[in-house]
Order: sequence, then C-alpha cells, then structure tokens
Amino acid sequence: MINKKIRYGLIGAGSNAERKHLNNYMTLPNVELVAICDVNIENAKRLAEKYNIQNVYGNYEEMLTNEKLDLVSVCTPNYLHAEISTYALSKGVNVHCEKPLAINAIEAQKIVDAKNQTGKKVMVGLNNRFTNEAVFLKKYIEEGYLGEIYQVKAGWIRRSGIPGRGTWFTNKDCAGGGVMIDLGVHYLDLALYLIGMPEPSYVTGSVHQNFSHTTTRNRNGYKGNPNGIFNVEDAAIGFIGLQTGATVNFEFSWASNIEQDKTYVEILGTKGGVSLINGELKIFSELLDTCVDISPKLNPNIKLMNEFEHFTNCILSGEELIAPAEHGVYMMNIIDHFYEASRRKEPVFFEKGKNKVLLLSSSF
Ligand SMILES: NC(=O)c1ccc[n+]([C@@H]2O[C@H](COP(=O)([O-])OP(=O)(O)OC[C@H]3O[C@@H](n4cnc5c(N)ncnc54)[C@H](O)[C@@H]3O)[C@@H](O)[C@H]2O)c1
Repeated sequence: MINKKIRYGLIGAGSNAERKHLNNYMTLPNVELVAICDVNIENAKRLAEKYNIQNVYGNYEEMLTNEKLDLVSVCTPNYLHAEISTYALSKGVNVHCEKPLAINAIEAQKIVDAKNQTGKKVMVGLNNRFTNEAVFLKKYIEEGYLGEIYQVKAGWIRRSGIPGRGTWFTNKDCAGGGVMIDLGVHYLDLALYLIGMPEPSYVTGSVHQNFSHTTTRNRNGYKGNPNGIFNVEDAAIGFIGLQTGATVNFEFSWASNIEQDKTYVEILGTKGGVSLINGELKIFSELLDTCVDISPKLNPNIKLMNEFEHFTNCILSGEELIAPAEHGVYMMNIIDHFYEASRRKEPVFFEKGKNKVLLLSSSF
C-alpha cells in the first residue's frame, strides 16, 4: 500500500470534523478525501462542497458499503462511536475515532475486539498527546529525569464552558457522561499517558451538577437548546491511588465560580518536577544544591508530531500507534470506576493486575 493514496471518508460532519479532521487530512499528499456522511445531510453537503468531496451520504453503512475506503474518521456523538467503528472495521477500514473511544469500557472493548479480529488499526483522537510540549515531556520522563514519580495533578476547569447546554453533550444517553467524559478524557489521559499509564489501585471522588438550570454558562460560540436534556455532571473531582504508590488528583469543570479557565498537568518526582499549565511548560529541579526552574523553548515552527500524518504512517508503514484503542479502554475503565465511586460515595478498587481489561464495569 506504500505508493497508494489512502481513500478517506468522514462520518459525523459537525464542528470537530471540520476544524480538526478535514482541515488536517486535506493537507496530507497521500490522502484522498473520497466521501462524507452525516444523518443531517445538509451538514455533509456543506463540508463536501467546501472540501471538494464528491460522495455524500446520509447513512454510514451505505457509505462504507459503496465506497472502498482505507480510513474513516468517526466524529459523531459519543454513543455512536462503538457502533460505527466496529462496523467500519468489519468492512476492512482503519478508524480514527474521536475521544472518548466509547461511552464506557465495555463499549470501548468491543472496538478493540473488532480491531483484533480484522487486523485493522484504530486510533483515538487524543490530540493533547501530540503537542510539542507533550512529545517533549513524554521523552523527558521516559529518560528518567524526574526520578520516581509520586504525585500527579491534572485538571481542565472552565468558568463558563458548557459545550451547548441541552445538546447531546449534556444528555447522558448520547454522551455517556458530562465533563469527566468530555474534558477529563483529555487531561487525565495526558497525565497518565505521560507517566506510562500505570495500573490504578482505586479511585474515589464526586460528580456535581450545579449549572444545569442556567443558560448563561455556555462555552463561547455554543448556543445550546433551552428545552434540551441536562442530566450529566458539570464538575468532576477525584483521586486515584496507583499500584506504584503514586497518587493522582484531578478536577474538571464545564462551569464553576473561578476567576479564570485553566488546563494543567503537574508531575512530581524524586529528582524533578514538571508543569504544563495553560500550555506553558516548566521544569523544576536542582543544580549544585540550588533549586532551578527551566523553561524549555520549543520551536513553535517545528511540529514534532502530527496526529494525522502519524496515523497514516501507522497504516502505511506500521509505525507504532501513539494513541491506540487499548488506551481508550484503559481510560474508560478508570472513568467507569470513578462514576461508580461517586455514586457509592466511597472508593472503588480495581482488581490487581487487570486494569486494562473489563472488571467491575459490567456490574455498574
Ligand atoms: N479531540 C477534540 O479536541 C474534540 C473536540 C470536540 C469534539 N470532539 C469529539 O468529536 C465528536 C463530535 O463532536 P462535535 O463537537 O463535532 O459534535 P457536533 O454535534 O458538532 O457534530 C456531530 C455530528 O454527528 C452527526 N451525526 C449524528 N448521528 C450520526 C450518524 N448516525 N451518522 C452520521 N452522522 C451523525 C450530527 O448530525 C453532527 O453533524 C464527539 O465525540 C466529541 O467528543 C473532540
């Protein structure tokens, strides 16, 4: 397949599809934009026209049956990720599925099983793993510069950032959860990925729903539906104990009474610490018995890793995936346990040695 163009299709022609997937796949010389699908055919037609895509569908099964595709992006609401991804895999198509991989670990595991049966590739759209800062940090930590890691903090907190009150994002059946499954999936993932996705021992915490009544806390540019359903959390705060003995604090909010929005990952080790706060990377360590702060100057003109090029390289030449489907199962398993801990109001333990397979999830 090395000299062949990848025949690409997109399913779910919404805002993320255009901003992220089409804008990037269209720039790759070895990718041909072949087909686009949305149940709202007007959405598909609009993007087809803009990106010069010849084949427009209102049904993804039809698209995947009629077109000989090599790769699809799945950019629909979360509850459709497993159904569509497994169908695409059954048709021999590689899948770039948006985060979260699915609405829970059982659904996510179905994607992994389908991938294993077909030998095709699945990547989760975890774009925060692909920033220059994340690429640098991953290497820095792997090289052992932090020593033994004992504490991690991760958060993405917004003052007014509900992604459309009353849309599918705030409907549990469509999204699987609220801010934890929307933003937690990005930044808890980033923190755990950077430290090598260690096995969790237990998780505890609480979800809150404090802003479902108000129309004033939508994210800029997101209108929302005043009569729509809002039955998910707008804040999620928790704590993970890892088998290594290290601990993880996390907080996520779509809306909260804070001064400013903030994204952060902080990792503390015996030899050094790092922080990535609102995209700014810093390293804290010691030199000659003196505390030093280091501000790495990554060249913004050089992109160390491109999510879309990376996935096409994985398909074409077997490059190892940075965000494989198995990592999506790992994260959904932690999130399932977190939601259960919140419901029970007590810590929920993972079965030792089996963090990457389904455990309690089936009984939640
Ligand atoms: N990685 C990121 O940074 C990022 C950012 C935003 C959204 N996302 C993810 O992308 C996905 C889509 O989010 P969005 O903000 O684009 O939502 P959106 O509501 O703007 O778009 C979803 C689209 O899917 C279409 N759709 C619904 N059912 C369909 C079906 N059966 N077949 C085909 N199309 C169907 C809808 O009509 C809509 O056009 C979500 O999973 C979300 O979590 C990821």
